[in-house]
Amino acid sequence: MRNVVKTMAAAAAIATLALTGCGRSDSGSAAASGAASGGSGGFAKDSLIGVALPQKTSENWVLAENLFNTDLKAAGYKADVQFANGGVSEQQNQIQSMVTKGAKVIVVGAIDGKQLGTQIKAAKDAGATVIAYDRLLENTDAVDYYVAYDNFKVGQLQGQALLDGMKAKKPNGPYNIEIFAGSPDDANAKVFFDGAMSVLQPKLDDGTLKIVSGQKSFEQAVTQGWKPENAQKRMDTLLSANYGSTTLDGVLSPNDTLARAILTSVKGAGKPNPVVTGQDSEVESVKSIMAGVQYSTINKDTRNLVKQTISMVNSIQQGQKPEINDDKSYNNGVKVVPAFLLPPQIVTKANAKEAYANDPTLSKLTQ
Ligand code: BGC
Repeated sequence: MRNVVKTMAAAAAIATLALTGCGRSDSGSAAASGAASGGSGGFAKDSLIGVALPQKTSENWVLAENLFNTDLKAAGYKADVQFANGGVSEQQNQIQSMVTKGAKVIVVGAIDGKQLGTQIKAAKDAGATVIAYDRLLENTDAVDYYVAYDNFKVGQLQGQALLDGMKAKKPNGPYNIEIFAGSPDDANAKVFFDGAMSVLQPKLDDGTLKIVSGQKSFEQAVTQGWKPENAQKRMDTLLSANYGSTTLDGVLSPNDTLARAILTSVKGAGKPNPVVTGQDSEVESVKSIMAGVQYSTINKDTRNLVKQTISMVNSIQQGQKPEINDDKSYNNGVKVVPAFLLPPQIVTKANAKEAYANDPTLSKLTQ
């Protein structure tokens, strides 16, 4: 029996070599049979992997592009990594082209998670696996997996940081605040907002916090396209309409790019520096935190997110189910998408040195 198994394993190994056309394959027999049938049982290691990224609205996307290009190739795949700076239709075309080129896995960081249904379905129909990266793909059953930092937790950490930062400056409230959200076409924006409001709402209810403008709904707080100029304009208007002689104690900002725009607006209005939150650990914001201007950011190390995504790709390549750690949080309107969520970390001046100790760029800023 042992010999039979050994002989079968040897035959499978030879088949794998023949299929992949290279000397070494991590794919094993399951992958070999999947590649032969073109089914979902795996595929040849040197196959094409497509990565469709959105616009460069924050540094994390640029880091992701570099890492996907380098690390997918290092793992033996061919990589097609694209940005869609031109918008939704450009991203639709890019995904369609990845399908046409025969990509086995398509990783999508969507501009608008609701507008890629046709292309994602085409990918599925062609036998590809679709992974939503960082942002969920909505209203489609053709998305297989989701990999991201825990977005609700990001919002909770931001809400708590806003409270902590204001308390450290002024031990007793009430505190005057304004709240900003991200772009409504990005599924993450509402989740960040809901996470933050889960912490802030009880404090609004008990009077500790006051949104002086009264603009407290997600719809009022959104920043179209995650564009800093939109946030800056809204902050200018909020300040001139509501903060004549009133002090602004804090601003909930969903990310670093918008935090810096908000701080620019406040400075321009000649107001004292409020507590402002952020996200992404962008270089300019980490500098600002170290200088005592922006209060907090979130550490969502892009290296770990890309690594987790490539580990998913490797499992799929080998005909195995990727590891997931959450099968309930992300209902996309049609299905609950199996997810792997990584833990985000809050960073303020107090823990920046320790938080970025392993980051070659950011550690230089916290000495
Ligand atoms: C990401 C954030 C980023 C934002 C704007 C979101 O989907 O999760 O990290 O700040 O997009 O690019």
